Amino acid sequence: MIPPSGMSRLQTFPHEMLREIYEQPDAIRRTLALYLADDQLKPEVESLLATWPNSAGEILIAASGSSRHSGLAGEILLEDLCGLAVDVEYASEYSCRGGKDPKDMRHPSVLVLSQSGETSDTLAALYEARRRGQRTLAITNVSSSTMAGVADVSMPLAAGVERAIPATKSFTCQLTVLYLLALYEGVRLRRIDSAELASYIKQLQALPNLIQAQLAGWRQTMAALAGKYSSAATFLYLGRGIHYAIAREGALKLKEASYVHAEGYPSGELKHGPNALVSDRTPLVVLATVDQDLSASVLRYEKTLQLLSDMRAQGAKVIAIANHGDTQAKGLAGDCIYVDPVSEYLLPIQEVIPLQLFAYFMALEHGVDVDRPRNLAKAVVEK
Ligand code: G6P
Repeated sequence: MIPPSGMSRLQTFPHEMLREIYEQPDAIRRTLALYLADDQLKPEVESLLATWPNSAGEILIAASGSSRHSGLAGEILLEDLCGLAVDVEYASEYSCRGGKDPKDMRHPSVLVLSQSGETSDTLAALYEARRRGQRTLAITNVSSSTMAGVADVSMPLAAGVERAIPATKSFTCQLTVLYLLALYEGVRLRRIDSAELASYIKQLQALPNLIQAQLAGWRQTMAALAGKYSSAATFLYLGRGIHYAIAREGALKLKEASYVHAEGYPSGELKHGPNALVSDRTPLVVLATVDQDLSASVLRYEKTLQLLSDMRAQGAKVIAIANHGDTQAKGLAGDCIYVDPVSEYLLPIQEVIPLQLFAYFMALEHGVDVDRPRNLAKAVVEK
């Protein structure tokens, strides 16, 4: 959204974070334009990427913070759509690992994800991967960053400068590029045929308009929910499959922006401990969307409905994110936010946006300077 001429950037939005949330449709459009031309994957990117994969089809993703959460979604995309074997590491852990003899270790291709391209831990992981002779790919929002220069291949985002410390538009653009990477890899490995590719690309291109049309409604709903839940002490965010990544990111956003404690868990883990925390002051945020065309997604949804039903019986307070038109999740959750039904692998790009808005409005409820929360930096760079 471009402010009318003569107005400062902040006159139309009270905070950078809100402005950046609203910029997401344009940021995704710009990012798509880097990789798609005439409704096709760009062949020059295809040739560049051909130099990256290892023959065993193994990938290790190393990243920190929100970027690691997009990596968790990337793992599912690359495994489900391309049949690759993917691990996700905290960048800070990766560089400290290593057996007696590095030759004994597996040698996956290494993918680093970083908004800034400068985070010290992630950069150290990238240097370590290069030291071990692994092929490297960097997905960053700054094409002139150190990581983009050091990696064998760079896939930039076009999110534009992100000023607020809580990452928003860079996160959805990372998900977009990971989806595109999965399409490139799927085609290369002949896992995705041309009809499927055309359908995936069409859905991806439709997404910015879908998001744009829903932003005002999400904003209104999330502002009201933040008021309603402002006194909660802890939130548990739950998601399965690719949506687990969004549960983790939703919880991190809330912590960073509002100082309210939150944790993200795979939905099935709730009953293995965290349920002891659930109370009037510990509500649940449950990702309950579904792709009716994918049986694994339908199974996930049915299990989620069962969880919602159990939580209702237990008296838990629940906010659910469900598909527009869903009456079952609505009937079982106290509060429901809706997203447009799209493919399983694109749902996360929508789901996270209401959660970003929830974190933003919770920050306002708690009087936090949301663009600059205490003790945090936009990029953690060790001198
Ligand atoms: C800091 C920021 C986080 C960010 C993380 C990784 O901790 O506060 O919001 O996710 O760094 O940053 P990067 O630039 O590597 O994505």
